[in-house]
Amino acid sequence: MRIAVLASGNGSNFAAIADYFQKESVAAEIAFVFSDKKNAFVLERAQKIGVATFQFSPQDFPSKNDYEKALLALMQQEKIDLIVLAGYMRIIGPQLLAAFPKKIINIHPSLLPAFPGLNGIKDAYDYGVKVTGVTVHYIDAGVDTGPIIAQVPVLILDDDLASLEAKIHQAEHQLYPAVLKQIVQGQQ
Ligand code: GAR
Repeated sequence: MRIAVLASGNGSNFAAIADYFQKESVAAEIAFVFSDKKNAFVLERAQKIGVATFQFSPQDFPSKNDYEKALLALMQQEKIDLIVLAGYMRIIGPQLLAAFPKKIINIHPSLLPAFPGLNGIKDAYDYGVKVTGVTVHYIDAGVDTGPIIAQVPVLILDDDLASLEAKIHQAEHQLYPAVLKQIVQGQQ
């Protein structure tokens, strides 16, 4: 199975997935990492461990539709079976969705449907909930919607925002690779 990882930033989830796949001999290859952001650290991380990278942005194209078309062409050219969003901060357009039904997975740093959007951790913290967490789900046309595959709770105790972020990321790095392994093995 050939996987494409799409990410916009730091890439700690990508690193956790790549590490786990290697250690656990998961029968899947991360064919490449794509980022919509030129200077995303995830690109450095990928290059360091010998994973191919691609980078382009909607601004490089006349329209958002053309950007999506290029992304879809990249997936087809690289014979991708599964798209894994790991901090990819954009909505997936209709063309890509139609071409990869139930084949695009996302991780979100809250217990969806609570606190969707760009700031799931901070929004939960600011609200004052005592339990938040991490969600892995299939992508549909909405923002952080789509059928839920797995969730883990994270308790907010005497945390500040930074310590909560660290706890959430730790939970993500455990949950996401394990769920992806199940998907690769056809168990989800
Ligand atoms: C992760 O916390 C992920 O859940 C979140 O972006 C972060 C990326 O971290 N995604 C979303 O908020 C999607 N709406 P990373 O680049 O270190 O993997």
